[in-house]
Amino acid sequence: MQIEGSTRADGRENSIWDDFCQNYPDRIHARATPEPGCDHYRRWQEDLDWIKLLGHNAYRFSLSWPRGARGLDFYDRLVDGLCARGVAPMVTLYHWDLPSRLGSWENPSAAEAFADFVSLAAERLGDRVSHWMTLNEPAWSIMNGYVTGLHPPAIQDLSRAFAAGHQLMRAHHLGLARLRAAGVRGKLGIALNLSPVRCAGTGAKDRRAARWADDYLNRWFLEAVVYGRYPRRAARLVGVNECFENPQPIDFLGVNYYYPKWVAHSKQATRFHLNTSGQEQEKCQFSLQGRMQFVDSPERTEKTEWDWEIDPQGLEDLLLDMHRSYPGLPLMVTENGIGLREDGCSARDPQRIAFVEAHLRAVRRALDGGAPVRGYLMWSLMDNFSWLNGYQKRYGLLAVHPETLERTAKDSAWWFKSVFQPNPRPEISEP
Ligand code: BG6
Repeated sequence: MQIEGSTRADGRENSIWDDFCQNYPDRIHARATPEPGCDHYRRWQEDLDWIKLLGHNAYRFSLSWPRGARGLDFYDRLVDGLCARGVAPMVTLYHWDLPSRLGSWENPSAAEAFADFVSLAAERLGDRVSHWMTLNEPAWSIMNGYVTGLHPPAIQDLSRAFAAGHQLMRAHHLGLARLRAAGVRGKLGIALNLSPVRCAGTGAKDRRAARWADDYLNRWFLEAVVYGRYPRRAARLVGVNECFENPQPIDFLGVNYYYPKWVAHSKQATRFHLNTSGQEQEKCQFSLQGRMQFVDSPERTEKTEWDWEIDPQGLEDLLLDMHRSYPGLPLMVTENGIGLREDGCSARDPQRIAFVEAHLRAVRRALDGGAPVRGYLMWSLMDNFSWLNGYQKRYGLLAVHPETLERTAKDSAWWFKSVFQPNPRPEISEP
């Protein structure tokens, strides 16, 4: 949804994000919408040429479920194009664009409908996809959909958050079962947003707040995925006793990491706010009264313009924590990157190079510490629709011009290639 555009092409139906953009345009920076995205739906061949030219050996992309069976023709061509270029196709089956006709994730039949979509995808792509991820960041989509209310369906209700989260986890296990039943050849996993939680205070209430954050933001979905049940103490505390009928193991865990969470007890009123402008004075806020709040790092670390802390050490800590908690489970960094205010034309991005280099060094240290990290995927190949931030916050190795949508390789793209291949800058012309 973030790159494709063509939201009306080939019978694609509306998703909850299309509705949200239509119904609440002012909640999105500059009233942006997923149209035209990067027009990837039409320019995909050029984009695959870039992937090849930049030396990538894998490409993670998300299927748009609202495109239905006809959309799979597009992904079929895309996967063929990747294979022809020697690039491993890594598929995410759900990246927040629930078809509107299903209502919301509180609807139990959404999980069954997802499983049916997974079967279709497995049948069409199962012989070539190298890695399957059922869901992208269930914790973040539930947190924003049902706790902060900043993303669709824009609800603020903790018990509904648990109900919708449970259906998402059912969808995950049902989806894995369908992939296995179809005998797909790729490895099976999920991409979770995970952050080391750091206690910012010294009191018992602060420690309790930090435990709450770790339990419900990290462990809740982790344990539902790895063990097929919720963490016992945390589940008892919130009176959740659902379990999964046929829990499925994963072959690898996808880790999306951006920044750690510093947590303290909150006496303040409940308030949620995301910086969507990239203005320094706009602070992110997450405060659940009486329970917890996110606070600034006491160490005054560097931050992005969107108020996200830059902390590569957090990635090493996280990978080693996963290694200790789930020994032997292969790990893959499925997202990591920095959003910057760029114009879509300029190629100079020294901050991104510094960010990625520091995080790659963190991965190296985690590997040295024994963590079985099998890959590192940057967010993102190209600048794209950054949800509430519209198109102003840019993450790409490729700049995408705001009007012509022309792609330009940033310095980071060539630098990234040089990390993995010597003498990267080709003498041939760019696509
Ligand atoms: C992850 C998502 O949460 O972070 C991506 O999987 C997203 O879809 C990325 O774009 C960066 O977040 P944002 O809000 O800055 O675009």
